[in-house]
Amino acid sequence: MESPFKAEVLKGKVALLTGGASGIGYEISVQLGKHGASIAVMGRRKNVIDSAVESLHSLGIPAIGLVGDVRKRDDAVRVLESTVKHFGRLDILVNAAAGNFLVPSEDLSPNGFRTVLDIDAVGTFTMCHEALKYLKKGAPGKDSSVGGTIMNISATLHYTATWYQIHVSAAKAAVDSITRSLALEWGTDYDIRVNGIAPGPIEDTAGFSKLLPQEILSKFKVNAPTTKVGQKWDIAMAAVYLASTAGKYINGTTLVVDGADWLTKPSH
Ligand code: HXC
Repeated sequence: MESPFKAEVLKGKVALLTGGASGIGYEISVQLGKHGASIAVMGRRKNVIDSAVESLHSLGIPAIGLVGDVRKRDDAVRVLESTVKHFGRLDILVNAAAGNFLVPSEDLSPNGFRTVLDIDAVGTFTMCHEALKYLKKGAPGKDSSVGGTIMNISATLHYTATWYQIHVSAAKAAVDSITRSLALEWGTDYDIRVNGIAPGPIEDTAGFSKLLPQEILSKFKVNAPTTKVGQKWDIAMAAVYLASTAGKYINGTTLVVDGADWLTKPSH
């Protein structure tokens, strides 16, 4: 679908996306790039990153791929340094890396719980923490009054309770809280806007196929999308909007992009 935004709304900006080489993260990479941003994608799998960068290049988007795990602080530091060394600045950080699997709480080990918290919540904090010096107003490539922006990809699982998703629900609740705390502190001190995007059921993603398998849907009637299923494009458009100056007064919010899906969750 064609974008309703002008192609140059993010001209000259540089974006780093964790989890930016696949799924929703990749579509955000594409759309930020199509709207003028240069793109750095970070992820654990070199082959996935290489093919994402090739695809971005074929769209005419300046892009680099950097292998790294958000659970490792050294990786975060190195990837941020490489991004700024290559493109000269950083304006947009998107935390889209996420771990997930369906498991009943009684079968989930504490280490399994911790692993998802480490990726989604601690990983998001680590990336934000290490990115701060590049995102604040007056950082390399920025003028003294305009800071960068952060977008944390969340979920709606924790607004109610979601079967077999105790670990991700806890992790995304933490992510939303991180979004608010950083918006308050860094918005005030450094002119950095920090927002979240909470996708609903999005077709053609790991979240949709892995986490909403037909046997679960039919057995428990859980999370059954009673409203329309969204597209990755819908999430990416929200990201373009929040990253652009159209979103300049939006800080500390998590934008739900789910066609009202979570409002319709069955309450049994
Ligand atoms: C139970 C599991 C498990 C599973 C891992 N563990 N997979 N427990 N069921 N299916 C447990 C392990 O037993 C272990 O605990 C601990 O987790 C660490 O496992 P490892 O395999 O060593 O970890 P690692 O290789 O680092 O992999 C972590 C991972 C990740 C979380 C499994 O690789 C992953 O999920 N990748 C897929 C990412 C993904 O699909 N992303 C899309 C997210 S969609 P023990 O105790 O045994 O040591 C999304 C949308 C949410 O987030 C909203 C949807 C509606």
